Amino acid sequence: MAVERTLSIIKPDAVAKNIIGKIVSRFESQGLHVVAMRMQKLSARDAEGFYAEHKERSFFADLVKYMTSGPVVLMVLEGENAIAKNREIMGATDPKKAAEGTLRRDFAESIEANVVHGSDSPSSASVEVAYFFRQSEIVKKCCGGQCGCKS
Ligand code: CMP
Repeated sequence: MAVERTLSIIKPDAVAKNIIGKIVSRFESQGLHVVAMRMQKLSARDAEGFYAEHKERSFFADLVKYMTSGPVVLMVLEGENAIAKNREIMGATDPKKAAEGTLRRDFAESIEANVVHGSDSPSSASVEVAYFFRQSEIVKKCCGGQCGCKS
């Protein structure tokens, strides 16, 4: 399996609930490594650009309003099969459909306030990581060789 990087966002509802650590711990305990991290309050422009693929959807304005309602935590996660693994840990977008033991099932209130975002494919992961992080902000070695990097 390939070592991948993916973008993860801890959304305003999760930051407000003070569960940043619980969320990061789920990623870490399932083999993903945080290789970049920043807390930020997104501007409308940041959120509109990030979610541009949804701009024609009926929920777009609400999504932008929600994502700018409070600080978020932006992270790059690295590990084997990181893109699919992150999505498995998050669960389905709609918490009512999310499997037991997933972040959204355990912590999300609604399809909008759904705790986390994660890239859905290798191409979106590379676009989304670059949207928020410069290469120089991402550490080069995650774990001394345990997840495929050379120390
Ligand atoms: P996310 O994985 O961040 O990607 C787009 C977001 O739009 C999604 O999570 C949801 O939080 C939000 N959203 C709001 N309403 C809907 C909807 N009806 N269908 C899909 N996504 C929605």
